[in-house]
Amino acid sequence: MKLWGGRFHKSTDKLVEEFTTSLSFDKRLFKEDIAGSIAHVKMLAKQAIIPQEDSDIIQTAIQEIYREIEAEQFAFNIGDEDIHMAIERALIEKVGPVGGKLHTARSRNDQIALDTRMYLKKEIIELCGLVMDFQEVIISKSREHIETIIPGYTHMQRAQPLLLSHHFLAYFFMLQRDFYRLFNSYRETDVLPLGSAALAGTSFPIDRRYIANELGFSRVSENSLDSVSDRDFIIQFLAAAGLMMAHLSRLAEELIIWSTQEFNFIVMDDSHTTGSSIMPQKKNPDVAELARGKTGRVYGNLMAMLTVMKGLPLSYNRDLQEDKESLFDTIDTVKLTLSVLRSTIKTMSINTDKMAKAAQADFITATDYADYLVKKGMPFRVAHEVVGELVKNCIDAGKNLSALSLEDLKKINNLFDADALELADPRRSVESRDSEGGTASTSINRQFSQAAKIMADEKKWLEKHLGKVQK
Ligand code: ARG
Repeated sequence: MKLWGGRFHKSTDKLVEEFTTSLSFDKRLFKEDIAGSIAHVKMLAKQAIIPQEDSDIIQTAIQEIYREIEAEQFAFNIGDEDIHMAIERALIEKVGPVGGKLHTARSRNDQIALDTRMYLKKEIIELCGLVMDFQEVIISKSREHIETIIPGYTHMQRAQPLLLSHHFLAYFFMLQRDFYRLFNSYRETDVLPLGSAALAGTSFPIDRRYIANELGFSRVSENSLDSVSDRDFIIQFLAAAGLMMAHLSRLAEELIIWSTQEFNFIVMDDSHTTGSSIMPQKKNPDVAELARGKTGRVYGNLMAMLTVMKGLPLSYNRDLQEDKESLFDTIDTVKLTLSVLRSTIKTMSINTDKMAKAAQADFITATDYADYLVKKGMPFRVAHEVVGELVKNCIDAGKNLSALSLEDLKKINNLFDADALELADPRRSVESRDSEGGTASTSINRQFSQAAKIMADEKKWLEKHLGKVQK
């Protein structure tokens, strides 16, 4: 018999049970469900909606249920439909009809919204911690490579030399924006829906602020209809997670390219690569590839949720149950990706010689020659043309810019003086780009101090909110 079975003549078809159940995946919300029920039943007694003794009996029993689930001694059955029903059934089995008082002034509609918000708040905090761990590895790799020069690319063609730290730090700032987006989605999630009941509120004199306070919510929802059917907070989180995966995927792609024999800029640690079942020589960057591949699934989860919401009439509809698998899968995937990619980066070794060599070839400092002429008064467009010709001559003669003598340079343009002979040096080129946000070491140092400030702010935020989520 279902807890809601009163008006039914027949029992539920097996296939319907199988189709409608959410228990297999929403049982991961049991902690939140129980914490929410305890706060609710405490409030019911405080407001004299139920007697204090009944509230106490329910609290004790429900805590027992908590321990049973935690110890994997709880018997779930598919007929329970969802985690809320499973716990309520067990409660009534334990304490008899008095257990049925728990659901006073509450509906599963506001209950599931509550559980999901509590769960997501906790997960966002955890995720923010993982983002910070990742950022820390990026900073320490950048610090190790404050001297290392690499070619910078546009269109995957060597463009201008860079410090490797500059390249790494680019990802630090992407992740800072990710952190910020997660933080915003936390704020959107941090609203108490409980007390909205099924859709219209309740006639019982409930105290929603009390529950918000018990459960660490900063706000109480304003409109019960909106509250039971709002999943914006999930969508916002899925979008933030999707964008973060885009960043991780770009980084993964670079690691894949850099670890090819053609580039050979990095060597991934044996512990973070896999072999081929047929080609004995191979060492494959599967971690990075899967980080890139899983990004598709995380995007898909966002699209799935946007599509579920499209055209849903107010208020609660069972469609909303579809929010959980997308959400849980995204949380699991992003957490795992952050952790594993972080240790891939931490353990990889960097072929600084290979990078330095690549940063010397292919006329990579040609822009510097043009800038030199510009500083002597030549319009940039003309300088571009002059240096283009210089490069063409070099290609024809089969030599690099560094092989040019002052005489060669003067032949092309008389504005070149002896100091122009240094223009082929990639380090000089890097150090000259000292504009705000540029690649010179002065700018890198500014970026480091900015990064330290950001990390301190992130840490402060995290510490402030750690105590506010259910563990
Ligand atoms: N399992 C449901 C969900 O995930 C809980 C709410 C069910 N409400 C209802 N009226 N059937 O959304």
